[in-house]
Amino acid sequence: MDRSTTAPRLMIVSDLDHTMVDHHDPENLSLLMFNALWEAKYRQDSLLVFSTGRSLTLYKELRKEKPMLTPDITIMSVGTEITYGNLMVPDDGWVEILNQKWDKKIVLEEASKYPELTLQPETEQRPHKVSFYVQKDKAQEVTKALSECFINHGLDVKIIYSGGIDLDILPQGAGKGQALAYLLKKLNDEGKLPKNTLACGDSGNDAELFSIPEVYGVMVSNAQEELLQWHAVNAKGNPNIIHASERCAGGIIQAIGHFSLGPNISPRDIIDLSDNNLEKFDPAYEVVKFYLFLERWRRAEAENSEIYLSNLKAVCGPCGYFVHPSGFEKPLRDCVDALRRCYGDNRGKQFRVWVDQVFYSQVGSETWIVRFKKWELFDDEQYGCLTTALLSSKDVSVSEGLTWLQVHQTWLGEAIPKDQSLWFF
Ligand code: GLC
Ligand code: MG
Repeated sequence: MDRSTTAPRLMIVSDLDHTMVDHHDPENLSLLMFNALWEAKYRQDSLLVFSTGRSLTLYKELRKEKPMLTPDITIMSVGTEITYGNLMVPDDGWVEILNQKWDKKIVLEEASKYPELTLQPETEQRPHKVSFYVQKDKAQEVTKALSECFINHGLDVKIIYSGGIDLDILPQGAGKGQALAYLLKKLNDEGKLPKNTLACGDSGNDAELFSIPEVYGVMVSNAQEELLQWHAVNAKGNPNIIHASERCAGGIIQAIGHFSLGPNISPRDIIDLSDNNLEKFDPAYEVVKFYLFLERWRRAEAENSEIYLSNLKAVCGPCGYFVHPSGFEKPLRDCVDALRRCYGDNRGKQFRVWVDQVFYSQVGSETWIVRFKKWELFDDEQYGCLTTALLSSKDVSVSEGLTWLQVHQTWLGEAIPKDQSLWFF
């Protein structure tokens, strides 16, 4: 599909903290499950939107800590900042809308008069968002008093309580829900309205996401009381919104299945990766599978069997070569041989491999170019490579899988592993 002109098959709009990202799972299993599913089955023709309360500063911190994908659209600071693409180009039209009937100075002045409110760090005070902390038992009372005060000042603002601690004050037209409605309208005007949209959240600032018409919603199992309460009052009986039984990204995958939005089995759920049930050649799935095998091999979660290596060798073209990100060149089959000595070298360690932004295009009757970012998480550090791979379907059946002809990598960002020889593919 040409992503610039075609309507996305699915748009996922997900909150990050305690929704996409499970802060109680140091292994990040459900996030990694989602990543593999998204890249194998959705990335090429769907849209991933992150909608977070975090500012850009805290969003970047989270990206460094957790094995996250790169979204197509990033909505930050509780729906007050919308940006597009990897360059995060801001939506200036949205900023203009938010400027209406908003006076940050008065909001700050008035709210500062309440001793129950503690100002959040400077990074979280944004042009259209003023944020405080307030104890749960004080929240309702303060919200009510503040609302009255702002009305008296002729201001039209919105007060949102989230996570049993955060209180955000925004322009009335802002918020995650309004930002989503704006985005849907924009996509519709461009003839790119997604066929389906799924909103995912866990706390108060996500409630609005579930009031947008034509949008499916999932409250993850670990959703906060304030969101469940909102649901009980405002959306009970709406069949398009579910409260998942799975935590975080597991709940998102569950909702994809529940609403029949597309494939819902993550390649990480598949134990025997050589069992290929595809109907046609699938370069994205091939790439996801290959790197998943690499992770399992080095964690000793795949069997230490010569059969795997010879299968892997068989999918590497005899003249195929690999350009390592440090610049050296090597036949692909030699790289497979090199894997023999690293079986289980990361057993029991924090080691994960995932691919991000997997895009392919068919460049000949039997050839595909696949571009993606390949990431490794090792000892709390993330290392990434921009990767281009040339794959071919010449002389192979769908069940054998595509042949790898060339792989070329370039380091991404500043972090480069100390021992580059441990970066195999
Ligand atoms: C994030 C933001 C914080 C906000 C909260 C709830 O934690 O950093 O400023 O109050 O989300 O929206
Ligand atoms: Mg959250």
